[in-house]
Amino acid sequence: MTRKKSAAPAAKENKPKPKPEPVLSATNIVKELGRGAGTVMALKGVDLRLVPGELTLLMGPSGSGKTTLLSILGCIMTPTSGELTVAGTKTAGLSPDELAVLRRDHIGFIFQSYNLFPTLSALENVRIALDVRGQKGYEAARRCEEVLREVGLGHRLRNFPGNLSGGEQQRVAVARAIVSSPSIVLADEPTAALDGENGNAVMELLARIAHEQGRSVLAVTHDPRTLPYADRVVRIEDGLIVGEERRPEGLDAPEITDLTKRRKAHA
Ligand SMILES: Nc1ncnc2c1ncn2[C@@H]1O[C@H](COP(=O)(O)OP(=O)(O)O)[C@@H](O)[C@H]1O
Ligand SMILES: [Mg+2]
Repeated sequence: MTRKKSAAPAAKENKPKPKPEPVLSATNIVKELGRGAGTVMALKGVDLRLVPGELTLLMGPSGSGKTTLLSILGCIMTPTSGELTVAGTKTAGLSPDELAVLRRDHIGFIFQSYNLFPTLSALENVRIALDVRGQKGYEAARRCEEVLREVGLGHRLRNFPGNLSGGEQQRVAVARAIVSSPSIVLADEPTAALDGENGNAVMELLARIAHEQGRSVLAVTHDPRTLPYADRVVRIEDGLIVGEERRPEGLDAPEITDLTKRRKAHA
């Protein structure tokens, strides 16, 4: 896990920079699905930590437990056993309502199939995410427009999903996931339904959300085209993490630490 610092860039400070604290931490997560003879151990003891400012890819074959793990990390599903801490809060023993609050305050979810309301415009689809948080009115509307501009859809605010390309729809879904400024963004196969160009645009966007906004982004995928965008790749097989790779300029890269600070300063 720990990476030796190679020839550190001219140190501005004498103190070594502390590693960012994980914003999400899962320990020994086990999940059984189904009942009786049909019980499947979908996760068999998974450990995973996510830090701010990184795009992590969770890769593994179909049926390896990716969606199950993402659902547990996103507080949509509870583990059979194991410990999960989200933004400093342990989830064990929380009621469904308390879990929903944790999810609302800290997690943005992006689904493979966008899950947009077909009868609402791009802007309205994003506004729903603030509506459910009690944020209405002019400020909320402005924030939604701003985020749609950020994802490159400033010219598509009034379009309905049916009049947007798949790539544009997924970008609306990304805007909806980040409009409430969650520290954790989880995406399930975000490029699966997209062609190369649109898939790349969405991955570029997810990397930007991690690096420029200091969020912790985890994307489940088995699409090798997503690899160039990752800071870190975690491999899962048959319910177990079997490997991890990291880009050389990964975790303790000074620029990532600085961006994290910058985000904190904005918070
Ligand atoms: N509701 C369920 N009941 C029983 N088994 C399930 C259920 N959902 C998923 N599984 C099984 O759990 C395993 C992991 O599934 P999943 O997390 O969806 O994998 P992935 O997203 O990697 O394709 C698979 O063997 C799948 O068949
Ligand atoms: Mg899946």
